[in-house]
Amino acid sequence: MASRSGQLSWKRTALLGLVSLGHLLQPVAAVKETDFKKCDQSGFCKRNRQYADDVSTQGSSFTSPYEILPESASFRDGQLEAVILKTINDQKETVRLPITVSFLESGTARVTVDEERRQKKDVEFRYDTRARKERYNEAEQLVIVGGLTLDGNAQVTHQDESQITVKYGPSSSFEAVIRLSPFGIDFKRDGATHIKLNDGGLLNVEHWRPKVDYIYEIPDPDTEGQKPLEEAPPPVKREDETTWWDEFFGGNTDSKPRGPESVGLDISFVGYEHVYGIPEHASSMSLKETRGGEGQYTDPYRLYNADVFEYILDSPMTLYGSIPFMQAHKRQSSVGVFWLNAAETWVDITKTKASSNPLAKTTTTHTHWMSESGLLDVFVFLGPTPHDITKDYSQLTGTTTMPQEFAIGYHQCRWNYVSDDDVKDVDRRMDRYKIPYDVIWLDLEYTDDRKFFTWDEHMFKDPIAMGKKLQESMRQLVLLIDPHIKNKEGYSVLSELTSKDLAVRNKDDKNYDGWCWPGSSHWVDCFNPKAIEWWATLFKYDKFQGTLENTFIWNDMNEPSVFNGPEVTMPKDNLHYGDWEHRDVHNLNGMTFHNATFQALLSRKPGELRRPFVLTRSFYAGSQRYGAMWTGDNQADWGHLAMSLPMILNQGIAGYPFGGSDVGGFFGNPESDLLTRWYQAGAFFPFFRAHAHIDARRREPYLLSEPYRGIVTAAVRLRYSLLPAWYTAFFHAHRDGSPIVRPMFWTHPSEEAGFGVDDQLFLGSTGLLHKPVVEKDTESVDIFIPDDEIYYDYFTYQPLKTSRGKRVTVSAPLDRTGLLMRGGHIIPRRDTPRRSAQLMRFDDYTLVVTVNKAGTAEGELYVDDGDSYDYQNGQFIHRAFRMADGSITSVDAQGRDTRAVEAGAWLKAMDAVHVDKIIVVGAPAAWDRKEVTVQSGGETWTVPVKYHAAEKGRAAFAVVGRVGARIGEDWTVKLA
Ligand code: GLC
Repeated sequence: MASRSGQLSWKRTALLGLVSLGHLLQPVAAVKETDFKKCDQSGFCKRNRQYADDVSTQGSSFTSPYEILPESASFRDGQLEAVILKTINDQKETVRLPITVSFLESGTARVTVDEERRQKKDVEFRYDTRARKERYNEAEQLVIVGGLTLDGNAQVTHQDESQITVKYGPSSSFEAVIRLSPFGIDFKRDGATHIKLNDGGLLNVEHWRPKVDYIYEIPDPDTEGQKPLEEAPPPVKREDETTWWDEFFGGNTDSKPRGPESVGLDISFVGYEHVYGIPEHASSMSLKETRGGEGQYTDPYRLYNADVFEYILDSPMTLYGSIPFMQAHKRQSSVGVFWLNAAETWVDITKTKASSNPLAKTTTTHTHWMSESGLLDVFVFLGPTPHDITKDYSQLTGTTTMPQEFAIGYHQCRWNYVSDDDVKDVDRRMDRYKIPYDVIWLDLEYTDDRKFFTWDEHMFKDPIAMGKKLQESMRQLVLLIDPHIKNKEGYSVLSELTSKDLAVRNKDDKNYDGWCWPGSSHWVDCFNPKAIEWWATLFKYDKFQGTLENTFIWNDMNEPSVFNGPEVTMPKDNLHYGDWEHRDVHNLNGMTFHNATFQALLSRKPGELRRPFVLTRSFYAGSQRYGAMWTGDNQADWGHLAMSLPMILNQGIAGYPFGGSDVGGFFGNPESDLLTRWYQAGAFFPFFRAHAHIDARRREPYLLSEPYRGIVTAAVRLRYSLLPAWYTAFFHAHRDGSPIVRPMFWTHPSEEAGFGVDDQLFLGSTGLLHKPVVEKDTESVDIFIPDDEIYYDYFTYQPLKTSRGKRVTVSAPLDRTGLLMRGGHIIPRRDTPRRSAQLMRFDDYTLVVTVNKAGTAEGELYVDDGDSYDYQNGQFIHRAFRMADGSITSVDAQGRDTRAVEAGAWLKAMDAVHVDKIIVVGAPAAWDRKEVTVQSGGETWTVPVKYHAAEKGRAAFAVVGRVGARIGEDWTVKLA
């Protein structure tokens, strides 16, 4: 490594004074908040907040200057079209804003406001020709994949001079009341208002205007006094124009050829105290107020994808990804909005309490959305259940891609495994200590001088042999590929990029040059379909030499991170495909790169149709379709461990549940207890990867001393035994967008005390309730219980004394995490420990039945080959298990006649896979017998049962031995 550190320090010197050095200097200081804008340093945010303040100061004397022209409104086929008139300059001028309100079959409504280009002859428009003139309107093409069919049954039920009412949605139970003047929309369900647009009058569409010819009448001090008093012009309040035509921050200038063009709107959730979503922030799941007050924020939540490493906790600061989706929840009702805009966006949140009955005050949450440019495009979801919201949102933006099975196992990463020998050594040692893992990762330094698609040939002499070695235990290799391409002569990827003209351009239409890991670099512009095609060519096995079928990809720095750019990213006046400014598309940038890599892996070899695995750091709504995300460069401290939970839960709420945080913390060196606790927590993250900074000490789990090593091994093995349950949860995420790990409000929408709980989770619908220890020297956890069911301790089978809405203290010494089983579930497991997930593919199953108060239980198992797309042709097993009346049964969960499915190789092999044990926790006394009967495939046989009577601190349980029924077939286990 000597020469590598040499290179690193060379870069440090070279970059000194030029770049944000946080990544390179050691020890790294926490993120400098001042490197990133606050609202009042971001022109449009400041202007929109000022607008909100002015509106509030004016109180009831304020009238929003936006009205729908009654004669412009027409309704056809589920769509209302009209023109909003914005009146400006004291009634002297108007701007026409076409509005479309679409009512979709799913029950979702969409409100889109655009702007007509002004025709006025006497206004000379001085548009700069560098960028396109219309508002950015292509986000839909990249984000929305379905659900746009209009609702033919939506109809206008009332129309007069002041409003238009449209009924739509399931059984016409939804209503949109569109107020014409001033413009606003109230969304109702079953007659009650849930969401209001522009109720607070904050709608603000900054219209196009010429740069210099737009003149305000400013009183002339010389002649002013001579005029008769009545002729004096009224005082004119000038808008703050200082940030209209250019902006400065941190030594950078943003030239703004199109001037101010932001959109702002207030959205109120009437009667809702809790709002969730708009990741990514290191903040609580239930979002805080942002205009001050005790324990609240003073800045809005910001969405502007950025490389905010070692981020501060409990902050509305922006992070690496953004999903402008928000869900509001109250007892028995969830509603939501999706703000489809890819520009920098800020969201203010305030809450008010109101009531006619002083004993039952209801809270309303007011949100104020502000985006720098683009259309105003907002989708409104009226629920009523959290699951409805999830499904409706997923219909639009797509669901989690069905993962490679290995991807839900454990991933071993660090910056960097330095050579192929190093990789093989880690692999060997994981085996020696019997710690399962599926993937080993290579960070930046595997490349030759940070040129992606090349290898450092001194350190990685034989990547193919390394890959094959991993293949022996069915393991995978993930390689880092970033979007910056080193600007170095002779680098073939660079010459292809530039000769094909596929790079992002600067405002002068030249290839944009910035600094990232390799020094001077260009960026591939994945908004360009041709760039996606070209990108795919680079991943072909014969082109990217050293890669094999078990090589997969990690996309990092795709915000994009630019060390010497404004706020560590690209200048907003850079240009992308179609001449859109970077300003318009910034938040989509990461997703376009992730998509390009996903597409590339799909086409590595003709005829090879396998699921890609691509991890991304930056994301937007829709990124769930391309793979996993992680929460970026966190720190090895307890606070960052604790913050992982709300962050991951919020990802799930916002339709992107395949996430995790760097286990152990990226920066720093975790003490053994912290690392151990992080593994216990990480075993319940959908994406489970340990990672560490280049300067962090080695911390592979086998390096821990006892008892830590054994405890970590147990945590990883717990993950592996529960992989069937995880895979089933992923299947549901894939099918309808359901979160993989679920917060209490989602699973128990009526239990108010749980609405703010974000430090524990349910794994899918398994009834497994997990709360890890996230504080030092803590040996118990207080788990919130959301219902009246029985809860058993996972490890001891102790039935806990719980009561609905209260917390129960569960012992969690270092060797145990807080894990409960809710009564009434059947959890599929595979109990034989093996080296990797794929090696468990044909192992038999264990079913754990947790008997509820009614003496019943239900559960499910979904399994397919974990690799191909054959599941789309019926090549899967999906069982529904049920225990009732003294028997446990398994039937096809989708009601298929599975014998009619023509079995391919994988399904045939599954014929040899059986149910091994069934453990019935809380088994009634009827299970106290020697044997039970199994019926399957027309045959009947008996198998032994071992019954363990209840003891102090442990429920009764029965273990049904070697059941022997095929997992893919119908079967019944009977007491009789
Ligand atoms: C970024 C990533 C980190 C990675 C490093 C080097 O900081 O977030 O995970 O190790 O770059 O590639």
